[in-house]
Parts: sequence; C-alpha cells; structure tokens
Amino acid sequence: MLNIAVLVSGGGTNLQAIIDAIDNGKISDTKICMVFSNNRNAYALERAKKHGIKTEVLVPAEFENRSAFNDAFYELLVSENPDLIVLAGCLVVIPEKIVKAFSGRIINIHPSLIPSFCGTGYYGLKVHEKALERGVKVSGATVHFVDEGTDTGPIILQKPVMIRDDDTAKTLQQRIMEQAEWKILPMAIDLIAKGKVRVENGHAIIDGYDPDVLLG
Ligand code: GRF
Repeated sequence: MLNIAVLVSGGGTNLQAIIDAIDNGKISDTKICMVFSNNRNAYALERAKKHGIKTEVLVPAEFENRSAFNDAFYELLVSENPDLIVLAGCLVVIPEKIVKAFSGRIINIHPSLIPSFCGTGYYGLKVHEKALERGVKVSGATVHFVDEGTDTGPIILQKPVMIRDDDTAKTLQQRIMEQAEWKILPMAIDLIAKGKVRVENGHAIIDGYDPDVLLG
C-alpha cells in the first residue's frame, strides 16, 4: 500500500482527480494519508473532508519567520512519513530539508512541457500567459520528481495539449488541466504504486513504457 500525502494551495481539482482515480481503481493500492494546505481557505480542504481524509494546515504568515514555518512543515511531514509526497497545485516552495529527507519521494505536476515555461516565477496563470506571449503551438503538462531546483527534477510523464488561436490564459489552463494534468498525475502515482518507476542517471525510467498505450 502506497501512503501518499497530497499538498495543495487552491481549488484542488488535481486532488479530486487523484481521489476519483483511487475510487475507480485507476490508481491501485494507494491511500491518501493526509492533505496539507498552506491556505486555510483552499477548497481542496473541503474535497478532502468530504472523503474523510485527514487535513492539516500550516500558514506561513502565522509563523514568526519562514524558518519557523519550514521547521513545522518538516516536522509534520516527517511525523506522517508518507511513502510519496504529491504536490498538486502546491504554491509553497518546498524547503531543502524536506527535499533531502524525502529524496526521490516527492512528485509535482507542472502545467507546461518542461523545460519550457517553468522555473522561478512560473506558476498559475503566468505559465499560460508566457506560452501565449511566445506564440507556441503546443503546451501541456509534466509530472516530475522534485529535487533541490525549481522544476528541474527527473521527468516522469508529459502530455501535450494543442494551443488554439482563440485561447486565453484561462481557457488554456482549463484545457491543460482536463486533457493532461488530471490524467498524468493519477497515472504517475499508479506507476509509482506499482513499483514501475526508477531513476537512473537523472532520468525517470518507467518499466514497459509505451506512450501510445499509456497516453493514447
Ligand atoms: C494546476 O494548474 C497545477 O498544475 C498548478 O496549479 C493548478 C492547481 O489546480 N500547479 P488545482 O488546485 O489542482 O485545481
């Protein structure tokens, strides 16, 4: 059984996709042991509660300083000790101490095809605004392991989404979530739960990987 902690900040549609995939068997042998948010008002917390999942909230602004928040955040995760930490729209920069303690056990969903439109400052709608500004014809989403850098860890899965002439950042964001994020994030968790993902020389390798079958 893979115990996962899902870290969120907002609406939680990716969390919902994970909950649904566990319920309908698309993710096997996995349990969400905790949903963490840095934002008390995140609707993601309601989604978790509706499914009887334990929630935890730590708000950085309520701590004396960032380092006190980071320590509490670290203690919380270490005491829960999940097999995998899933960043699903989590806007908190994960402190190095946590990345080190959970090395190879943290994944993130990013709404672009890394290495395009990623790194510091590329979050939320900004990612899509930049893609439209550049005039790219295709964007998408990436699930990757988290390392000490920003969006630099080994890439597990990517799925492209075509850009339309009439797209706005909002329509593109929505289509990337529907067509890519809500599919590849649960898929990556299932592959990890089945022990099919390993990292070699900085690359994530999936046993029996066939993108046409998997992502069709
Ligand atoms: C998603 O686009 C995700 O890729 C990004 O933030 C958004 C979160 O959406 N990091 P939600 O909270 O899962 O609905």
